[in-house]
Amino acid sequence: MAIIIGLTGGIATGKSTLSQMFKQSGIPVIDSDDIAKDVLVINQPAYIKVIEEFGEDILLCTGHINRKKLAKIVFDDMDKLEKLNSIVHPEVKKIVIEEINKYNVLGHDIVVLDVPLLFESNFDKLCNLTVVVFTDEKTQIDRLMKRDNLELEDALKRIKAQKNIGEKIRLADFIIDNSLSILETRKQYNSLLRKIR
Ligand SMILES: Nc1ncnc2c1ncn2[C@@H]1O[C@H](COP(=O)(O)OP(=O)(O)OP(=O)(O)O)[C@@H](O)[C@H]1O
Ligand SMILES: [Mg+2]
Repeated sequence: MAIIIGLTGGIATGKSTLSQMFKQSGIPVIDSDDIAKDVLVINQPAYIKVIEEFGEDILLCTGHINRKKLAKIVFDDMDKLEKLNSIVHPEVKKIVIEEINKYNVLGHDIVVLDVPLLFESNFDKLCNLTVVVFTDEKTQIDRLMKRDNLELEDALKRIKAQKNIGEKIRLADFIIDNSLSILETRKQYNSLLRKIR
């Protein structure tokens, strides 16, 4: 059985950056955000439930969900965010488990789950160990605003919607500080992989 590593952190603290490093080492990464996008494809069960909950106003004229609009709605209202998560997470979990099984059959010794809400939605229960990637708050805000082209206010809302990073660090088996250069992060990654192996 493969060792399942749960990779998480705050929004824009570097989960995808770390995932890339794992992939370069030949370790498969299951990306829950990618899966969440797939489960919201037209006419899938979660897509239908989302429209029932949020109305047809969140659709583009093509019938696809307008993700930007949906994100704006749920990050302005925590109850709505919880509702969306309660629709999407169970569907995502099913597919994550299928993917883990697939990589087990293929004989991989390590599989990574990249899940932003690893602890909040109990995906950590599927994992043998957890890694939290974090940055200082200023770096996180700067990178988030730059990458997603957000105003400060919206960036702060998205950061506050998640469990406090300090709490995630406390729950983690390993931590990676991604506040500095990619090279510094890679050094920590190399040391992490040595420990795991
Ligand atoms: N060490 C670094 N130095 C400079 N820029 C970085 C570094 N690490 C990540 N970035 C940049 O910061 C942004 C956020 O990183 P990344 O996408 O890896 O975060 P994430 O945790 O996957 O975000 P999300 O929560 O949205 O999935 C990206 O634009 C990335 O290129
Ligand atoms: Mg990411």
